[in-house]
Amino acid sequence: MSMHIAEDKIADIKNAADIVEIITDYVVLKKTGKNYVGLCPFHSEKTPSFTVSSEKQIFHCFGCGEGGNVFTFLMKKDGLSFPDAIRLIGKRYGIEIPEKRHKEKNRGFDEKEILYNINKMAMMFYKENLQNSKAGKMAFAYLKNRGMKNETISEFDLGCAPEGWNHLLNYFSRKEVSQKIIEKAGLVIPRKDKGGYYDRFRNRIIFPISDMSNRVIGFGGRVMDDSLPKYLNSPETPVFNKGSSLYGLSQAKQKCRDSETVYIAEGYFDLLSLHQHGIENSVATLGTSLTGEHVQLLRNRYVGENGKVILVYDSDVAGIKAAQRSVEIFKQGYVDAQILVLPDGFDPDSYLFKFGRESFLEIAEKALSSMLFLIDSAVNRYGLSIEGKNRIVSDMIKHFVMIKDEVIRSLYAKELAERLGIDETAIVRKINDAYETMSRETRKKPGKSSEKAIHDGIKKDSLSINGQDLYAEETRIEKHIIAMMLQFPEILPEIKKRDVLKYFQHANLKSIGQMIINKMSQYNGQVSEILDTIDNMENRNIITSLAMGKEVWNLDGCLKLIKQFESSRSRYDDDLLRRIKAAEDSNDDKLLLELLKKKQAKANTFKHDLESSGGKSK
Ligand code: GTP
Ligand code: MN
Repeated sequence: MSMHIAEDKIADIKNAADIVEIITDYVVLKKTGKNYVGLCPFHSEKTPSFTVSSEKQIFHCFGCGEGGNVFTFLMKKDGLSFPDAIRLIGKRYGIEIPEKRHKEKNRGFDEKEILYNINKMAMMFYKENLQNSKAGKMAFAYLKNRGMKNETISEFDLGCAPEGWNHLLNYFSRKEVSQKIIEKAGLVIPRKDKGGYYDRFRNRIIFPISDMSNRVIGFGGRVMDDSLPKYLNSPETPVFNKGSSLYGLSQAKQKCRDSETVYIAEGYFDLLSLHQHGIENSVATLGTSLTGEHVQLLRNRYVGENGKVILVYDSDVAGIKAAQRSVEIFKQGYVDAQILVLPDGFDPDSYLFKFGRESFLEIAEKALSSMLFLIDSAVNRYGLSIEGKNRIVSDMIKHFVMIKDEVIRSLYAKELAERLGIDETAIVRKINDAYETMSRETRKKPGKSSEKAIHDGIKKDSLSINGQDLYAEETRIEKHIIAMMLQFPEILPEIKKRDVLKYFQHANLKSIGQMIINKMSQYNGQVSEILDTIDNMENRNIITSLAMGKEVWNLDGCLKLIKQFESSRSRYDDDLLRRIKAAEDSNDDKLLLELLKKKQAKANTFKHDLESSGGKSK
């Protein structure tokens, strides 16, 4: 990690890198005016406040306050060091960075890289087996019998694990790969008794699972008969996290972006069938339940804030249960999913196999919103007796109160009333009562709601958290001046000449201003470059937020602003005296002390001012 990269290489890479291009890999961006906006990858939000400027090569989230340039983005998002961020971008734009070889290589080589390699080798082994071995013949016949086309088999790199305990083990030992690392990849299991290892996957169809960058991260395996367990997955490893991985994502991602829609299925064969029937914007969970991470990933990176998410689970009890659980997760991720309920006994694979694509798309068109799905399944569960209706209502109210929008809440109330054939107003009243109770309770529990507030972007105005918001108007104009300095560097000589920064009240803004004066000419007015020289994260975030402005600056406007600031300084002095008087009158000692300190600080500034400028008049 400590490897040194030559300055000229870094410069080449900085020149080549385009922030919009890089961030597009992580966030669905839409152009609005000069900038691009999308859903922030650093916090969970309902509407986009994550802003990227192509012209300035910076990003800033007005929701959570995070900001930076393309390198800071990768460092934060992928947890990379600066040199690694440089390397990653270099690789993408084909700029070679000569690595110092010698011993460093083995030591520095990332364990994850090794695991990706091992997995890839295993994938090749399983593929080879499917195509060219005697055992492969049976597996191939199984796949054919389930309707898999050759193109699908090769596109998804399907394979098969031979029968026997050590085929993969031997394959790796021929390649002189250590058994420890194969174990770490989850491909072999240590023997309990006599030491050594045995193959995890034996006599199974193999589904390699890859990540968004097409690296193999794990495997799923299915038996070819009725033996148990039917499916076996790789365990969690340093490169395989089931809660954030989705089967088929790398094949589906572009189609998801184009259509702003994604189908989520539960099984490997479901996914392959969907894909094979031309419904390529589909992914599958890996035998685990859907997580918030999955939902955020799909929304932020692939389908966008108003994208459509359609869940197609089995219609059996387990599938319905899983769909019900997922509704909660969708709501937390601000996604209103639709739930496609297939006819009894079908899963996506068997439905497509029997009725084909058109029929599937037709019923998908009519997929229920998650709330209507919940109503439906409550009706199926409790029936429409008086007792049943009563239970349905109290069940559904738990869900309804979670909906913030009153209009939507009442629409669902109406829907429920109609479905149950009861009076709508009674339901609305019940919901409102429950809503009141709930908000009273959350008000009493500050822990939970403040956590939520942080989530929703309490850091909105990071400038006012320094206890310096006493003079908000002052801060506002100081911010405006810094914004001007960042966006219209032509004004810098004037700022310097008039020594405008000297009168700044806000400490961070003052030091940022000084830094801009010192560095701006050196970096040709490039804000993104200056960011690399600032260690203080808060200051970086202030800079990106202020640099992102939409204002058009000209010299006249700038001079006006400076004069306004200067005159506000004298008004501020008058105001300070008035406040001191008022504090004295009302015996507010605490405030008085604070104000006197302010006055003292002011006096020092002017004293210093007079001394250093030799008595120059203001
Ligand atoms: P097919 O019978 O091959 O069509 O599979 P399916 O996908 O229809 O099976 P099912 O609906 O039973 O399971 C859905 C998904 O749950 C599978 O694709 C697996 O990911 C997972 N799963 C099913 N059975 C098992 C099991 O025995 N062990 C594990 N770990 N996962 C399983
Ligand atoms: Mn199935």
